[in-house]
Amino acid sequence: MSDEAILMKGVCKDFKVLNRHEGLKGSIKDLFSRDYKTVSAVKDVSLTVNKGEIVGYLGPNGAGKSTTIKMMTGVLEPTSGEILVNGLVPYKDRTKNCENIGVVFGQRSQLWWSLPLIESFKLLRDIYMVPQKEYDDMIALYRSLVDIEPVLHKPVRQMSLGQRTLSDILAAFLHNPGIVFLDEPTIGLDVSMKSKIRDLILGLNKEKHTTVILTTHDMGDVDALCKRIVIIDKGSKIYDNDIDHLKSYFGSYRTLRMRIGDTWEERLIDEKETDVMSVIAETQAKHKIKDIQLQEISTEEVIKKIYEGGS
Ligand SMILES: Nc1ncnc2c1ncn2[C@@H]1O[C@H](COP(=O)(O)OP(=O)(O)O)[C@@H](O)[C@H]1O
Ligand SMILES: [Mg+2]
Repeated sequence: MSDEAILMKGVCKDFKVLNRHEGLKGSIKDLFSRDYKTVSAVKDVSLTVNKGEIVGYLGPNGAGKSTTIKMMTGVLEPTSGEILVNGLVPYKDRTKNCENIGVVFGQRSQLWWSLPLIESFKLLRDIYMVPQKEYDDMIALYRSLVDIEPVLHKPVRQMSLGQRTLSDILAAFLHNPGIVFLDEPTIGLDVSMKSKIRDLILGLNKEKHTTVILTTHDMGDVDALCKRIVIIDKGSKIYDNDIDHLKSYFGSYRTLRMRIGDTWEERLIDEKETDVMSVIAETQAKHKIKDIQLQEISTEEVIKKIYEGGS
């Protein structure tokens, strides 16, 4: 067996969309129109993900993240290029591919709405033909990682968003798939639930060596979970490396925080270009600075710089 969980070579995905015209007249014209344009959602993306890795797949809205995940899960067929997931071509071997992946799309539960979670688990056990012993071991592992008692006997429809997300993640790992795809799993959750969910994902990755592909806008998720990040922008891959490498690349950047009155003002400063002391002096000449902090550049700021074309 190879060490590669996912292999993508020059993958492109185009969508044909109708060129819409304005107004009622336009809408009627659209009904008969053959005026299509092509949207290139994913452009020439090559990517290798090894077994057991947690990769943050990041990019601004519309960058092509979900489209990539849909190709990896076999929902969409690439327009061109090659893609192998667990050694299978996902859109050709869709059923077989599904046996070895788990998927969570934030805010869209895959569970049976009116069933208590434990009943959903038993159904999934039967669907995936998980041997009873492995099922019991997995439930025991869940218990050791997170308090599942409050959700186990509750129907999904009665759960809070956080409980539902937690349940969805547990369900996605239940058949011990090689790869789990998490598309914005912590969206809309409070701080304590986010941290519970991060601990759970880390624990499962560690115990089961599950490969995890995570898309998120929450840099807290990235800091807690991902050693490696891949960034795409307008369909193209623009970064693929360890997060530490990225931070050292932006090593001369500091966040200067100055408290003026009751508010903290923040400035991102490149020490190669701007002298921190002179910024403080300039500010002090106009306002009374009550406190000063100097911090390393945060993941959030690094990613923002890359989105802005700062790389
Ligand atoms: N089914 C579709 N039909 C037409 N265009 C689509 C479709 N799905 C996605 N797109 C377009 O492809 C681009 C990438 O979308 P998506 O993969 O959802 O981005 P992300 O998940 O990074 O926000 C966007 O411009 C989006 O409008
Ligand atoms: Mg998306």
